Amino acid sequence: MPKDKRALVLGGKTGLLGQKLSQVLQERGWEVKAPFRGELDIFSEEAVSSYVQEHSISHIFNTVAYTQVDLAEEEKEQARLLNRNLPKILAQVASKKISISFITAQTLSLMVNIPFPMSQKINPIP
Ligand SMILES: NC(=O)c1ccc[n+]([C@@H]2O[C@H](COP(=O)([O-])OP(=O)(O)OC[C@H]3O[C@@H](n4cnc5c(N)ncnc54)[C@H](OP(=O)(O)O)[C@@H]3O)[C@@H](O)[C@H]2O)c1
Repeated sequence: MPKDKRALVLGGKTGLLGQKLSQVLQERGWEVKAPFRGELDIFSEEAVSSYVQEHSISHIFNTVAYTQVDLAEEEKEQARLLNRNLPKILAQVASKKISISFITAQTLSLMVNIPFPMSQKINPIP
């Protein structure tokens, strides 16, 4: 279990998954920061790094994504920005000192206690 439990949850204020994740983290004793879009430029490595330092963030959870699958072919740049560039930016920030989690369907299944019969480590949120 990590000693520092201060999370930055991207998408945690408005996203379906982000809001639930923020709730679960808080129930498990984490301090959660979930800025609105206007509060943090998540596409700026410098801005995210400063935010992480200012709030002593120990972990970043990214639930921001381009989720309009049907439109992704038409809005390629937006889809790339959210689903490719953003994870890269976050990985660069995280490489400096903190942990980062990319949320998957498996993680969600475990969060809401849906039986998940695959041989993998359970309970990813300490
Ligand atoms: N929902 C599920 O059941 C589920 C299950 C497994 C995995 N996932 C995965 O979890 C991720 C999120 O899914 P979701 O259902 O939570 O999606 P969602 O409800 O549509 O939330 C998307 C989040 O991304 C933010 N966002 C979108 N475009 C943005 C931009 N340009 N700049 C800043 N923020 C932006 C949205 O903020 P705004 O409100 O400001 O637009 C919102 O907070 C996806 O990768 C999805 O595949 C979801």
